[in-house]
Amino acid sequence: MSGSTTASTPRLRVGIVGCGNISRNHLEAFTSLGNVEVIGVCDVDITRAQATAKSWNLAHAVDSVDALLALGLDIVSVCTPHPTHEEVVLAAAAAGVNVLCEKPIAVDVASAERMANACATAGVKLGVLFQRRFWPAARALREAIDDGTLGAPVMGQVSVLLHREPEYYSADAWRGTWANDGGGVLMTQAIHYIDLLQWYMGPVAEVYGAINTFKHAANIEVEDSASAVLRFTSGAIATLTASTAANPALGVQIRITGATGATAELSEFPEGSDGRLTIMAAGDTVASTPAHPADAVANVGLAGINAALIPHHREQIAEFVHAVTHSHDPAVTGQDATNALRILLAIYKSARTGEPVRFAPFPTNVPTAPDAVVARLDSITPVA
Ligand SMILES: NC(=O)c1ccc[n+]([C@@H]2O[C@H](COP(=O)([O-])OP(=O)(O)OC[C@H]3O[C@@H](n4cnc5c(N)ncnc54)[C@H](O)[C@@H]3O)[C@@H](O)[C@H]2O)c1
Repeated sequence: MSGSTTASTPRLRVGIVGCGNISRNHLEAFTSLGNVEVIGVCDVDITRAQATAKSWNLAHAVDSVDALLALGLDIVSVCTPHPTHEEVVLAAAAAGVNVLCEKPIAVDVASAERMANACATAGVKLGVLFQRRFWPAARALREAIDDGTLGAPVMGQVSVLLHREPEYYSADAWRGTWANDGGGVLMTQAIHYIDLLQWYMGPVAEVYGAINTFKHAANIEVEDSASAVLRFTSGAIATLTASTAANPALGVQIRITGATGATAELSEFPEGSDGRLTIMAAGDTVASTPAHPADAVANVGLAGINAALIPHHREQIAEFVHAVTHSHDPAVTGQDATNALRILLAIYKSARTGEPVRFAPFPTNVPTAPDAVVARLDSITPVA
């Protein structure tokens, strides 16, 4: 699909696979655009597909991806559980259809790479939903890096302290399992903020991490909490803490300190609300606003979170449609999403082995310590 759309250009034909929670965001977004038409939906549970088609006045409800693709599409949106993303993306690529896939792109890197390769070989676009990049404040922070206010990032801090009720995990059989969810808070929630961190700070070179399950062990086999230290190829360093065991939740705060010494903080509180720049400390000014306004309701249910995300799904989906009609890469590519996945999988690996996981070399600038200091450090004997 190439060339710009005009009044005489046929509308792009869109199909949506998976009619669960997040499909509403895709339907709201696509149906708000003038140059696309949602042709049909697909779900392995045909009653869900039929109910969705009826609510949205769509012509087709089918129970297989092949039947959806047979309708003749330009774009497929993938809104199924994570491990099923690959089969849908590969089928779409084989049919020459552009694909917009929900996050995480996959639950293993080899799968993500197969998806990206299949789309590249077929010459179709692959975009992955990380709609938080579209917050105006997220973009303002990125601009503060690019325009030299912060300069190149040297340190990052990410705090993801969320609340989930046990029912969140028990509502859908695939949640909280290694086989079907692929992980816990890192795979499903923190991946958005890992993506923001890599967008701001560049490629990650090394990860050291720990995971644990503090609250939800009765309902899940994956982690509900994680901490990690990340080193970047630039030499920058960052920490990440993420949990769904917090009560009340504190949402998400991302702080970036740049080479100029300036620091900016992006805060999402409550979860799902638009990120706000809550600190901009630059020059001789510390401009700040409360990251946790007292009148906000801290714990938000899944339906409320997903509904609040709609405006930014709309922006990313509009941008993806533009990428298709104007033949440019989408703002978030399959490669970006694969990189975010690799980072969180490396945290799992590091947590298992107790060792850092290194992807690439990184510069350090630590002065050599005198012998007396090294001796002091050597006196700390690790427990076997
Ligand atoms: N971008 C975001 O902020 C965001 C928010 C919520 C969910 N998501 C992602 O969206 C995806 C779906 O999440 P959800 O909460 O909507 O899940 P859900 O369980 O509510 O819905 C998934 C639907 O897919 C259907 N399905 C399963 N396998 C299928 C297949 N092979 N073909 C067709 N239909 C199939 C199921 O029957 C179900 O109706 C997940 O990957 C999740 O991480 C992203």
